[in-house]
Amino acid sequence: MAIPVPEKRVAAFEKFGFGMFIHWGLYSQMGQGEWIQNVRKIPGEEYQKLQQTFTASKFDAHKIAEVAKAAGAKYITLTTRHHEGFSLFDTKGLNTYDAPHSPVGRDLIREYVDACNDVGIVPFFYHTTLDWYDPRFNSDFKAYLQYLRDSVEILCSEYGKIGGLWFDGNWSKPNEDWEEDALYKVIRRHQPDAIIVNNTGLSHRGEMGNIELDSVTFEQGRPTPLDREGMPKYMAAEMCQTINAHWGYGYADVNYKSLAHLIETLCACRKVGANYLLNIGPTGEGEIPLLQEALLRGIGDWIRMTGNGIYEGKPCGISGVGKNFALSTADSKKTWFYVHDLGIVGDANVTVEGGGVGEKTFSGVKGKVKSLRWTDCDEQLSFTQDGETLTFNATGYPYGKNLVVRVAEAEME
Ligand code: GLC
Repeated sequence: MAIPVPEKRVAAFEKFGFGMFIHWGLYSQMGQGEWIQNVRKIPGEEYQKLQQTFTASKFDAHKIAEVAKAAGAKYITLTTRHHEGFSLFDTKGLNTYDAPHSPVGRDLIREYVDACNDVGIVPFFYHTTLDWYDPRFNSDFKAYLQYLRDSVEILCSEYGKIGGLWFDGNWSKPNEDWEEDALYKVIRRHQPDAIIVNNTGLSHRGEMGNIELDSVTFEQGRPTPLDREGMPKYMAAEMCQTINAHWGYGYADVNYKSLAHLIETLCACRKVGANYLLNIGPTGEGEIPLLQEALLRGIGDWIRMTGNGIYEGKPCGISGVGKNFALSTADSKKTWFYVHDLGIVGDANVTVEGGGVGEKTFSGVKGKVKSLRWTDCDEQLSFTQDGETLTFNATGYPYGKNLVVRVAEAEME
């Protein structure tokens, strides 16, 4: 059976490779994650008081877009409304539980989209489908779904061209009819090129859903290769992940992933052609915590040192030993080999990580390699190719350098 050809928008989305997720809402003021209202069983009237203290005094959309850009992210997915039901956008009278009716007094989504457009980052909108605020979610589900569609229609018609919509929450009522066709029709009417995602949650990773959806999700997990043979349409894949242990800001969550771990995870996603959507959780005032910003910038530094492979390259049937893998351009003119666990070669009195250096073998290399060099310097690498098997000498990092994953770029005949 054949693998379907991706639609143009889906192929473009796959090339984004890396995106920045942002969870920000009233809950950020409590600094204990975005589920705090539910987990602590805080009564609605009490929780909703957070609207009166929501000032966004340190929210700087340009700064956020600039950090994403520096991180090498090609898109941002921001929570326009999370499960708490509060909207960062102007709901145009659907209710008053929105940013313009808080001390902020402005439409924050407008600022977000404008900043993304200025910097050249594609804005995506996360929108919850599960709602802890609107009573109709429990009392009159059909009416609630109309409210959901009206909200989404505002997002699709008020802000110019957007990258896509990212829904989350259908897993909360698995047996309900969510009228998904009607929802996606609203989007397609205004934004025919938008990517539509609907998170399948922690227990149904990688599952296809409605035919209008453009990507499957792998929430908090290593994505596995998708078997696209015989699929009714080509779907992309995306893995979203927290940078510490919560999506929304957690002042006492210090369980951060290391920069090395984030780089390896980006590689693990791209190895199977999935996008990596890495989350940050700004504070209640809207500021990106320093450590989160630093980690994001660190990823950008790595991307700049190791080249375009993570955007331009796709899985191409080449396999390496262990975590090593390769990506290739569609025309097979360029192939990138990703080498993990290389050591530093330096003075034995100071260097303790000399291992991992030497011959690396990759199989399934269809084309003929003309030349090979590290992307982080001009060093040419010696190699032999026997049919589809390529072996090259992976020289260690010179003292002063360690990239976690080092990338060799091949020109192919
Ligand atoms: C989960 C959570 C939610 C978070 C999302 C991100 O579904 O409910 O809080 O926004 O994952 O993938």
